[in-house]
This record gives sequence, C-alpha cells and structure tokens, in this order.
Amino acid sequence: MKKIILIALLFSCCIAVNGQQNTLNLMPVPKQLTAMSGKNRITNKFTVSVQGNVADTVLFKAVNRVYQNLNRKTGLAFGQQYITPTDKNDSASLIVNVKTKAEAGIDVNESYSLKATEKQIVLNAVTTIGALRGLQTIIQLCDKDESGYYFPCVVIEDSPRFKWRGLMLDVARHFISYEEMKRNIDAMAAVKMNVLHWHLTDDEGFRVESKLFPLLHQKGSNGDYYTQAQLKEIVRYAAERGIVVVPEFDMPGHAQSWFAGYPELASQPGPYHPGPRMQWQKEHPEIKTPPVTSIADIVANMVAPTFDPTNEKVYDFLDKFIGEMAGIFPSGYMHIGADENNGQAWKLNPKIMGWMKQHQMQSTDDLQRYFVERVYGLMKKHHRTMIGWEEIYNDKLPKDAIVHKWIPSDNSMIKSYGMANDIAQHNPVLISEGFYLDLFLPAYIHYNNASIAAANNPNILGGEAAQWTELADNNNIDGRIWPRAAAIAERLWSPANVTDVDDMYRRLYVLSNELDEQGLNHLTNYERALRLLTNGEPTEHLQVLTDVLSQVKGYRKLVAMMMRAPQASYQTTPLTSVSDVILADPATKRKFRALVKLYLEKKDKNAEEAIRAYLQTWKQNDTYLQPLFAGNKRLMEVQDHSKNLSAAAAIGLEALDRMDKGITDAAWVQKQSDVLTVFEKAHYETEIVVIPEIEELVIGHTIAKPEKYSAF
Ligand code: ACM
Repeated sequence: MKKIILIALLFSCCIAVNGQQNTLNLMPVPKQLTAMSGKNRITNKFTVSVQGNVADTVLFKAVNRVYQNLNRKTGLAFGQQYITPTDKNDSASLIVNVKTKAEAGIDVNESYSLKATEKQIVLNAVTTIGALRGLQTIIQLCDKDESGYYFPCVVIEDSPRFKWRGLMLDVARHFISYEEMKRNIDAMAAVKMNVLHWHLTDDEGFRVESKLFPLLHQKGSNGDYYTQAQLKEIVRYAAERGIVVVPEFDMPGHAQSWFAGYPELASQPGPYHPGPRMQWQKEHPEIKTPPVTSIADIVANMVAPTFDPTNEKVYDFLDKFIGEMAGIFPSGYMHIGADENNGQAWKLNPKIMGWMKQHQMQSTDDLQRYFVERVYGLMKKHHRTMIGWEEIYNDKLPKDAIVHKWIPSDNSMIKSYGMANDIAQHNPVLISEGFYLDLFLPAYIHYNNASIAAANNPNILGGEAAQWTELADNNNIDGRIWPRAAAIAERLWSPANVTDVDDMYRRLYVLSNELDEQGLNHLTNYERALRLLTNGEPTEHLQVLTDVLSQVKGYRKLVAMMMRAPQASYQTTPLTSVSDVILADPATKRKFRALVKLYLEKKDKNAEEAIRAYLQTWKQNDTYLQPLFAGNKRLMEVQDHSKNLSAAAAIGLEALDRMDKGITDAAWVQKQSDVLTVFEKAHYETEIVVIPEIEELVIGHTIAKPEKYSAF
C-alpha cells in the first residue's frame, strides 16, 4: 500500500512538471516541483545561515553572491553585511544545509532539495556543488507582484538527467577575452551547466601561453592568448561555480597555428601562419562563386595543415605539451579535436606514404587511427581521459576514450560515424549534434534535439552547446550563445518529459533579462551596436525593426566569408553589420507568436488588442525610419525589410478586421499569402521572422513550426 501511495505521489509530481503549469520561472525545470499556495515575502530583514560544519570557502562565497544578488534585485538594503560560518541562526530567512564539501567534477553529487514556506526557505544538499545548483534555483524563484518581492512557496527535489552539460566555446577564430569568459561562466552557472569545453587552438590561433614551447603562442597567435596565470584563474573561477574546464588542443588537423612556430611537426613544409585554412581564392582563383554544395568536396579534398604522425619528434613534443597543460587544467579530461582530417597532406608526402606501406597501412584512416592511439597513450601517461570529435571513433578505440558526436546523423553533407546510441555501445558519448548555436537556429530546434530525445544508453554522458566563432567576437559573443544555450542546458538537466516549447520560451526570456541584469552583455551589446549603426542617433525605431529580424539560418554567411579569404577573412571583417549584432531568436517573435496562437485558438480579445498594437507599430515604423536611412549605407541592407514589414503589418491588420467582421474570401487570402511569401525571403543576411504569424492571421489558423532547417 505504502508503495502504491509513493508511486501515486511520484506520478502526481511528474504530472505537475509535465502539465507545465507549475514551472514558475525556473530554467532548467527541476526534476520534481510542487508549487504550493502562499508567498514568502522578502523584507530588509532577510537573513541567511549556513548550517552544519562544512568549512567551505566556495560555499560561503556562493551564498554571499546570492545574498548580494537578491539585495540588488529587491533594492531593500538587507541588514546582514555578509554571511560567515559563525552566523548560526535557526530562524534565518534562508537556511543552507550541506553535508560534505566537494569540488566541481563530472561525477559529483549535484542533487539538492528545497522547501520554501511563508516563514523560511531551507536548502538541503549532500555536497557543496548541489548547494550551488540549489542557490541558482533560489535566485530564479525570486519574483515580484504589486506588493513587492517574494519567493513562491514550493517544494523541490532536483538532480540532473545528464552528468555532462557543457558549453563548447571556440576562442581560436576570434579571441574571446578573459573578462568575457568569466561573464559566460556566470551565465553557465545560472543554468546549472557544469563543463566549459574551451576550444583553445585551431588553424586561426593558438590561444594558450606555453612556457615550454613559447613559439606556439608567440607565432601561432596575433598576440591574443591567455597567460598561464589567466588560464589558472579561469579554472579557479569556474570551479567556484561548480564548473570544470576541459581544454581542447586540435590535432592532427585544424593545426596550422602549431606549425607557425614549429613547422617541423607538420606533414608539409612551411612556412605556416595562423589563419583560415580554407583559402578558396588562393587555391581556386578560376572559380569566382562556387556552389555551396561544393563545400563538402573542398573539405574532402583540400590540403590542410596536419601533424606528421610518422615523426617521433611529434610525440615527444606532444608529451611535453600535454604534461604542461595537465598542470594548468586539473579536470582529468582533455579534448584532442581530431575532426575533419581528410588525409590529403599525408597523401602528398612520399615519406609518409612510404612509412604507411612499411607498416601495412591501407589508408590514411589507418594512419589517423595510429595517431589517435599514440596520443591516447600520452593522455594516459598524464592521467587524462581523452576526448575527440566523432572522427576518433572506430572499433579498436580504447573503451574509455570519449567520442564527441557532432555530425548530423542524416548524413546530409558529411558522413556520420553512427548514431549516439550505437557509438555508446562501445564508448562514452557526448552529443553536440543538433546543438550548434552558430547555425542561428531558434532555441526550440535545439530544445527538441532528436539525438538527445532518443538517448537510451547510460554511456551517453550528456552533451554540449557549441559556439564556433568565425562570425562572433567579444562584441557579439554573449548574444550568440545566450539565451539560446539555456534551452540546451534545460534539455540536458531536466527530465525528458519536460517538452512544452511555449512554456520554455516564456521562461527563456525571463531568464534572458535576468542574465543581462547579472552582467552578461547579450542585450546590452545589441543596444550598443544599434547606436553604432545609427551613428549615435536614437535607436528606438531601428530596434522596432531589428527586434523582428534574424540571421539567415545555417552557414550561408560563413561560406560567403570563406570564399573571400584571405583578402577579407572572417577574422578581419568587422562584425558590426545588422546580421552580426541582432539576436538569433528574438523575444518579440516568440511573444507575438504566443499572442497569435492565443487569439486564433481561443479568440482571446486581449491578445487581439496586443496583436493590433504590434501591427500598428510595425506599420508606421518605416515612415519613422526614413530620415535615419537617408545617407546611412550601413542600414541599406534593411531598407527593403522595413518597407515589407510595414506592408505585412497592414495585411495583418486587415486580416484581423476581416475576421472580426466574419468575411471569408479565398481569393484575398491567396493574394496576401503570395505577397507574404515574398516578404519572407532574406535580404542580404537577415530575414523578417514574424511573417509566418501574419500569414496565420491571414489564413485564420496556426501553422506548425518547421522541425529542422538546412545548414547550407
Ligand atoms: C566540428 O564542427 N568540426 C567539430
């Protein structure tokens, strides 16, 4: 009987989560959440006490950060100056109870439970790291109404679905500053991510200081690299937020920057300079505008800078380098890249081909396998678990090497090495397939990640959002990653049955504002960039337009940039055009979409009023923008959009009028739909994102969202 009651209880908790009415503003949604009636009002008497005998600086610093955050948010001027181990007070507003001190790590217990009543909040955690996760939930619980700030009464039991919830950040294509890294680590902590996968080297730059091989950073970068002191500080900063740092040093391919200072390690003679490896104009001057579909052929056939696996000096070098880096990055994991090596640099070297023959190797795949095995041995020597992109995968790969899946399983452009579940039968797997933020896809596409939805093998450790930075730099990186990465963080933390996209979006934009308030710059940078585009003139009307624009999805802009290299590479082109500065999944689109849905499905009058207000604003906006457009070349690329948005809004208003009057006219609907289809097309590198909703108003019902978009 007891068992039945327990099952019934668990089931009702699941329903509470699944039904989505009780998710509050929490992101990620906790495993179990029971919202209760009542509010715990926050006053200036708000106090905190850390119970138990855990003398843990990390914990106390985290508790103080939360305390300061709440003080700042509520503006109440709390009386307790800061929280120390001697503040033992059983009647404090917030009690934090931790059993054991623990360090950030993949296998650490991250669970916590939280109970908020009208009188007190109690956070219980087995470890420090669980407490850090719970403290973030407390920040997100803080809400306000007409009477002020409060915590809703709630009972939460929480722990993650996956133990690896990462963000892969490329700092090679564009260097991302030390300060930016810290901002992003704070944002990761806010959504309970636990791995910063730091892509520190690639063809375009070697971003770590090596004391053993100083030409790596001196010649392999433009001077933008992290000193060892900075690297250690980032590792410490992340650890204090429950995040481990996993560095990636790319080999055998994506390795041009290693060879700038040490060309003797490469398969082809130098000289080498850090920079884009695909230099279309240099290599194929005869073809002016290559078809995008030929990109896969280029990648398959180009001669790219690649380590020489037959040279013993390579392994001596890597042994020393890995040892040096192991002293800086204590996480126990190291990523070697190993992706996109087509073997061409090896095929063109007779010495390497001779060596392969001598060792009975049939193909360059065998040589790649040999190289990966040798590096695996070096990793073992330095007590590191090796990770590589899925190209390291083969049936002889040692069982503890982690395979990082990234290639779409549908084999549309590049051949995949297998589905995550299949690879996981042999090796631990991380999933970034479907999590590429640099494709400019809306958050729901990542949220619905099919590979994660299908994950049924415990050897799938989790996944990582991935942000490559060909088209991102310090000025726009925050907006490239956030808030969309939070949807991925939720997918990796929350139970698989948390799938309500509308509710995800509602919470995502609450969190987005919170993150910017806390110091992330995704919204601030956008507004600042608009001022640059208006030459300091007021940006209000430009923002009305840019708030409903998004980048063309996929790699179209990147491919166009690659074709221009080296004359105007993506490393030297300023990232200040409209497509560089806008956000990929604008809040206005989602708010408008929710209103249109509410109106069309429920005929909600308030929703109709709000829709009309949006449409009126958009309709008039082009007139307001005309003076700004005059003589402003940088805004040329959005002039057509501005005109089209106004015309589309007029159509939307007419559609509402017709619906109100009960007019049905198939010919009118067809004509307007045709016009809207034209407006939906991209101009330059952006597109208007609210046209589908205006079309829904015209046809009188909602249309399903696309399930996927092409990368090219
Ligand atoms: C990759 O995107 N080449 C891992």
